[in-house]
Amino acid sequence: MKLCVIIPLCALITLTQQAPTQDQCLCDLTNSEKAFPHDKLSTVEDNASKCNSNITPKKTLELESLMLGLERRLPQMEKDLSVLEREDDGELYGVLSLLVIENELTEIKQLMDKLNMTSRRHQHLTTDTTEQLEDLRVKMAELQEYDTLQVVKRQQANQRLKRDLDQCKNEHHPTPHPTQPPQGICPHGKFVNITGPGVYTAGEYPGSYKYGAWGRDPKPAVGKENWYWLVMLTSSNRYSNYVRLYSSLSSLIVGVSVPGNVQIHSSNPTTNTVQGPNVVLYGDALYYNCYNKYDVCRFNLSTKTVTTMQLPKGTRFNSKGNFCHLDECYLYTDLDLATDESGVWVIYTTSQDFGNLVLSKVEEGEQPKLNQTWHTSVYKQAVTNTFMACGVLYATRYVNKEVEEIFYSFDTSTGVEKFDIGIFIRKMSPNIYSLNYSPVDQMLHAYCDSFMVSYEVLFE
Ligand SMILES: *[C@@H]1O[C@H](CO)[C@@H](O)[C@H](O)[C@H]1NC(C)=O
Ligand SMILES: *[C@@H]1O[C@H](CO)[C@@H](O)[C@H](O)[C@H]1NC(C)=O
Ligand SMILES: *[C@@H]1O[C@H](CO)[C@@H](O)[C@H](O)[C@H]1NC(C)=O
Ligand SMILES: *[C@@H]1O[C@H](CO)[C@@H](O)[C@H](O)[C@H]1NC(C)=O
Ligand SMILES: *[C@@H]1O[C@H](CO)[C@@H](O)[C@H](O)[C@H]1NC(C)=O
Repeated sequence: MKLCVIIPLCALITLTQQAPTQDQCLCDLTNSEKAFPHDKLSTVEDNASKCNSNITPKKTLELESLMLGLERRLPQMEKDLSVLEREDDGELYGVLSLLVIENELTEIKQLMDKLNMTSRRHQHLTTDTTEQLEDLRVKMAELQEYDTLQVVKRQQANQRLKRDLDQCKNEHHPTPHPTQPPQGICPHGKFVNITGPGVYTAGEYPGSYKYGAWGRDPKPAVGKENWYWLVMLTSSNRYSNYVRLYSSLSSLIVGVSVPGNVQIHSSNPTTNTVQGPNVVLYGDALYYNCYNKYDVCRFNLSTKTVTTMQLPKGTRFNSKGNFCHLDECYLYTDLDLATDESGVWVIYTTSQDFGNLVLSKVEEGEQPKLNQTWHTSVYKQAVTNTFMACGVLYATRYVNKEVEEIFYSFDTSTGVEKFDIGIFIRKMSPNIYSLNYSPVDQMLHAYCDSFMVSYEVLFE
């Protein structure tokens, strides 16, 4: 009996002695899952980003702007035609109008052709993109099979829950109304947005003059109701000595200046000629920063005489109080003239205001005078331009090459300032050198790197 116990014990001892001495452990893992195809994921990623870069906002804008251009020009054409019918007395003016209309027809035809081409290109792009997206969707679905831990599915479920939660929250606390732009004395209601560009034209001198301004006289002389004006800084991108006039929007677009130029002085620059781009025409007179002075000049187009009005002492001038963005200041933009429903305004800055925007109402009359003045708390160098609409000052800032933001407002009727306007202007070129509101047709006119562009202001 005793022997029986001893034998297995001995066996146990021998076994222990025979065990390997190194601490090594080998194991075989059999994985039933497929390896994750990282390379496939990265091609899908590449393809998706290619697809993304194919569709740029610029491409959509191109089409939209062509459409808007056409939309604005067809009614203008109709009007011109009816003018022609009325004028059809065999006189010279009728012939000229006919020429304008002929030119315009050609332009409209070109615009239609361009539209046709662009929309066909877009159709291709859309078809291609749809195919690519479908392809990507299939590939992603395949890849999702590898998601054995169900990470993606859970994420999706979480997103759904979060959405439901947000919705639930919103039902209990209705979203606060978006901040409303202030309301001045305005016959149209509140300024809520802008659309466009509507008109987008290189005009009569494509690419020749980078700086300038254009627009429509809000208080035109009799017979000049449809006229448009253009002032280009023809000397050193700083100075000008004439106003160029067009009898209609279409003549401005096709570049037929029938009334031609009205000259302020034969020299450029000289005393009381134009310095800087932010000029306006009002009541058949051009208001602008006089050459080498901190004065507002008023050039009467019928008498061809200049009257001046001095701004307060300390007003920055000769490019010392410019509009700017991070990369650039716009030279000789010390004084910005503006028009709205109530007349002419001047926006500037002074040493005593530490470079903040100052706004004054300009009173017409035999001798133009400053009336009320408002001091704002927005720094002029953080602003790229300003305009007035319904007694409210609006200021813009540069966001990027494609976008400018109307970010600031100052209501002269209440003194309320806002820094959160958040209305975006889609630019056709990077720099807006002048911007002005036309109370006649509620359009914003911009002059940008030699292009004339307009936007429609939307009121509530
Ligand atoms: C990526 O795009 C190329 C060319 O369009 C295509 O041949 C390829 O199958 C795509 N790959 C994936 C993973 O979607
Ligand atoms: C657009 O272009 C196509 C191809 O050139 C042409 O067949 C078609 O008639 C054009 N459409 C218009 C409205 O011009
Ligand atoms: C303003 O108009 C733009 C384009 O027309 C639009 O995308 C945007 O949502 C509008 N903004 C508001 C506040 O209505
Ligand atoms: C321009 O001069 C004419 C003639 O003197 C005058 O009737 C008109 O009021 C003047 N315009 C302005 C804006 O001063
Ligand atoms: C200044 O503006 C007020 C308010 O619009 C007006 O009543 C007054 O006549 C103006 N003063 C001058 C000098 O024009």
